[in-house]
Amino acid sequence: MTITMPISTTEWLRLLLLYAHLLLSMLALARVLSADLGLVTGKLSREMLHATVHSIVWLLLGLWVSGLAIIWLDTGFDPALLAERSKLVFKLVSVTVLTLNGALLHRLAFPVLMSDEPLNLRKSMLLAITGSLSTLHWLLAAFIGVSKPLGKLPLELLLLSYAILCVATIVGSLACIGLVRRHIMHWRSSNDPTSFIDHVIS
Ligand code: HEM
Repeated sequence: MTITMPISTTEWLRLLLLYAHLLLSMLALARVLSADLGLVTGKLSREMLHATVHSIVWLLLGLWVSGLAIIWLDTGFDPALLAERSKLVFKLVSVTVLTLNGALLHRLAFPVLMSDEPLNLRKSMLLAITGSLSTLHWLLAAFIGVSKPLGKLPLELLLLSYAILCVATIVGSLACIGLVRRHIMHWRSSNDPTSFIDHVIS
């Protein structure tokens, strides 16, 4: 008597990868959103921000590895198959922008945030735009992940909606620039930079 398994090994593998991907995304979102909240309320210390950034880099790397492994199982990276899946291409565009924006945050925005230099308009705009785009893209990546019906829409429509969403987020963050500036000044004043430098050196 031969027993046929109703779930193939590849399906089990995909399921485990998707589960790992889901857990990583939950951890990453929890960290991103609690860091955002901590910055707004002034309750996030410089040490905590430093640790959060470090862990988010690793979580994003895990999301890339598990996400690309799922895509490999589904399509073998065949361009023709990829082109047929509008939701997948949309997800790849959004996580690529998320990663590039993360690099900008890391290289340009965090040094401004951590320093004690006066916050002029240019620096405030940098923090507001990169910060709001980061939150948008983390939430969007999770939304695309769980939204099966999005796959029914053509890629052009998805990308157009995405562009409108990005522009609206940038305009919204610039409209709130005064508020952003006040929150950052408050956060800086409630977190003494000298104690942070002492912590990093020790
Ligand atoms: C960094 C590169 C990433 C890649 C290559 C990727 C790729 C994928 C793929 C291929 C799926 C399966 C989609 C399907 O079966 O229809 C998926 C699902 C998902 N992704 Fe991602 N993803 C990435 C990042 C993220 C991020 C940053 C988040 C959110 C913080 C996220 C959250 C999710 C969620 C919640 C699901 C649905 C899981 C489920 O079906 O239970 N992903 N992702």
